[in-house]
Amino acid sequence: MSRGAFIAFEGGEGMGKSTQARLLAERLEAEGLRVELTREPGGTPGAEAIRELLLAPPGEGWTLEAEALLFAAARADHVARRIEPALSSGAWVICDRFLDSSRAYQGLAGGLGDERVRALHDVGSAGLLPDLTIVIDAPATDVAQRLAARDGDASDAIGGRAEDYHQSVNAAFLEFAKQEPDRFRVIDGLGSIEEVHARVLEAVAPLLEGRV
Ligand code: TYD
Repeated sequence: MSRGAFIAFEGGEGMGKSTQARLLAERLEAEGLRVELTREPGGTPGAEAIRELLLAPPGEGWTLEAEALLFAAARADHVARRIEPALSSGAWVICDRFLDSSRAYQGLAGGLGDERVRALHDVGSAGLLPDLTIVIDAPATDVAQRLAARDGDASDAIGGRAEDYHQSVNAAFLEFAKQEPDRFRVIDGLGSIEEVHARVLEAVAPLLEGRV
């Protein structure tokens, strides 16, 4: 049984990642692949419990270090209990956010630094990286309208951070893609859901060759 492929969707808030992850999963299933669609933080009961703590923090909120550790802990459980077993069994895993979100939000925008975020990932998840990371990118002004429609005043502890924090996050993803062009594909998030889906399929095509 050959190992499945691991695809992560990344990007700032409101880029349409979750919709695109679901559409890709449906498409790959239609091609006859076994697909595990999951998300971070979350994906296992333990990691979903940590998600609650992160997005609606009790008390005065987390320090930057505690926040990064909680994301890494959630990911460790997710990788050990769900992602690795699925990949080993030959399933494809599609994950809505993964390590690069920690690198962008906690490492760069938050200021913890890339090395420390990666060190936590090495401890927690044996440094597992996706085979392909799809970054969905769109101008902040277009995304602001979508987010207002989606969240209104109800954004979570991280989504509700200042505009310059989110600008750093978006810039970080583009920078990561430049640094590792083999692992990343940046996709234009503007246009209809179908148009963006078509771009996602183009990005995934090389991985699919010879597998279906
Ligand atoms: P979610 O509702 O899934 O956000 P979105 O719909 O924008 O993907 O909430 C996840 C939030 O957690 C989001 O603001 C990004 C943030 N996050 C981090 O800060 N670090 C991480 O490692 C991950 C996985 C998410």
